[in-house]
Amino acid sequence: MTIRTKITGTGMYLPDRVVTNKDLEELMDTSDEWIRQRSGIVERRYITEGQQPVDLAEAAARQALEAAELEPDQIDCIVLATLSSQADFPGTSFFLQARLGGNMPCFDLQAQCSGFLYGLTVARSLVASGQYQRVLVVGCEVHSTGLDFSTHGRDVTVLFGDGSGAVVVEANTDEDDRSDILEMRLHAEGKYAKKLWLEAPTSCVPGRINQEMMDRRAHFPSMQGKFVFKHAVTRMPQVLRETLDAASVKLEDISLFFFHQANLRINEYVANNLGIPAEKLRNNIQRYGNCSAASIPILLAEAEREGALKRGDLVSLTGFGSGFSWGSAALRW
Ligand code: ACO
Repeated sequence: MTIRTKITGTGMYLPDRVVTNKDLEELMDTSDEWIRQRSGIVERRYITEGQQPVDLAEAAARQALEAAELEPDQIDCIVLATLSSQADFPGTSFFLQARLGGNMPCFDLQAQCSGFLYGLTVARSLVASGQYQRVLVVGCEVHSTGLDFSTHGRDVTVLFGDGSGAVVVEANTDEDDRSDILEMRLHAEGKYAKKLWLEAPTSCVPGRINQEMMDRRAHFPSMQGKFVFKHAVTRMPQVLRETLDAASVKLEDISLFFFHQANLRINEYVANNLGIPAEKLRNNIQRYGNCSAASIPILLAEAEREGALKRGDLVSLTGFGSGFSWGSAALRW
């Protein structure tokens, strides 16, 4: 028999430094109007001087632990999803474990904007199999230190922000409590890896980076925006429906939809196509930009704090990102 699983705590942390579209106008040839119109973003957060990824991850993790009424030493494993790790190795999860204390296993998982959904799937499997009782899943990104603030990089740079979100996944053995992560579905299409990627530093060349790579700005992310957009609006509804079907849940019975925050236009397009009413779709990209693996757990934490997420509600989480990677989860909260 598999064990039911439940998210028992959520947490979030956004750095204090607010960077508006107007601030970016000072650095590159862009405009508030272009950014709002194409992406919905008004502002995003960047780390302040001296802040590190682990600072963000720790703040979000401690909040999630407090919400779950757990001490750090009660956690059996840490899964941290990121594409912007504290060091090349070891992963940010190890720095986080040092802060939280203990000897529990921890590892980083890299699945870009789908990272949280991949991490949640791993956590659910670890708990449902009986291997662990409590797994901490963290999404943490510091994008701002790795973006190209020249006009050359404007298409990518204006979209991203820094932040962290976390959840605690626990076994639910209470027969009267129907909370469960009902179904999860993940997909990937590695043939499109280079459509949205950060090439360097890379183990493919001695020294990991060379002048030729610096000259063609291979150490900054690059994206074929329209190509990514088209795939996102196709894959997200597919995987969302696939997951709800697997869980035998009707779309209209879902109380809230949480989509990855890559672009407000993508989310509105997908919601429109599926007939999801605007009031059931949670978005915060306007304030935080795209926080990759941290976007969905931040959304969850925010919804819970606002009282929008209630125990017993059916909710759907869906994301798409670099890889390409995409996935969805159906939960009874
Ligand atoms: N400011 C002003 N102009 C800009 C900017 C900018 N920041 N960026 C690009 N432009 C210009 C382009 O140079 C182009 O100019 P041109 O017509 O003179 O050549 C024009 O604006 C239009 O550019 P497009 O790229 O065609 O704009 P598009 O309408 O496709 O919007 C966007 C771009 C917002 C990036 C969109 O394609 C998108 O959202 N793509 C998907 C992003 C996504 O989902 N990412 C996945 C998750 S991220 C992850 O996994 C890490």
